[in-house]
Amino acid sequence: MKFFIDTANVDDIKKAYDLGVISGVTTNPSLIAKEGKNFNEVINQITSIVNGPISGEIKATTDKTEDILNEARKISAIHPNMVVKIPMTKNGLKAVSILSKEGIKTNVTLIFTPIQALLAASAGANYVSPFIGRLDDISNNGMKLVSDIVSIFNVYNINSKIIAASIRNPIHVLECAKIGCDIVTVPYKVICQLIKHPLTDEGIKKFKDDYLKSINN
Ligand code: G3P
Repeated sequence: MKFFIDTANVDDIKKAYDLGVISGVTTNPSLIAKEGKNFNEVINQITSIVNGPISGEIKATTDKTEDILNEARKISAIHPNMVVKIPMTKNGLKAVSILSKEGIKTNVTLIFTPIQALLAASAGANYVSPFIGRLDDISNNGMKLVSDIVSIFNVYNINSKIIAASIRNPIHVLECAKIGCDIVTVPYKVICQLIKHPLTDEGIKKFKDDYLKSINN
């Protein structure tokens, strides 16, 4: 399973990328808005840090197929690593189908059912993004969604990659790894949680104390 980072914060991307475990980035309009910079500025900075797939989403106000296509072509032209993130709608699917024939990479987002994922893959999406946390938030089972998509894609040998998104905690990441999800896109805070364990910290402290005792004897 590959790890992507789910943020538009350039400092967090740098810190995570330096760990050597991140192979891509996903952003969305809310994450870009949080940074208070414009889309192109943020995306250009990210492309200079990360050498891997970078998802940049079309404007939240773009909904007609023709407009999605125009914007997607512009996003894709920013850098060869760009993946155009498009919400799961009828017009979005139409656009994905045309873009895939043009060789433009797409990530269909806001996936909440396994069949939405299958439809996105059928239209030619390179990536599908099921949202775990937002389903859990409404007392649904986000992990079941991802595991159903993994099973269906395996049955039909589907090449579209599954990016588990809306990750809220380390358990989401563990469960994704266990079921063979292709990619998990993780906020920086959760990446830090994944690294830490109280027994690791305790062990380091004990080794340090014992070492200092031994050199002082
Ligand atoms: O990038 C899409 C997704 O990961 C958003 O997560 O936490 O806003 O549900 P969240």
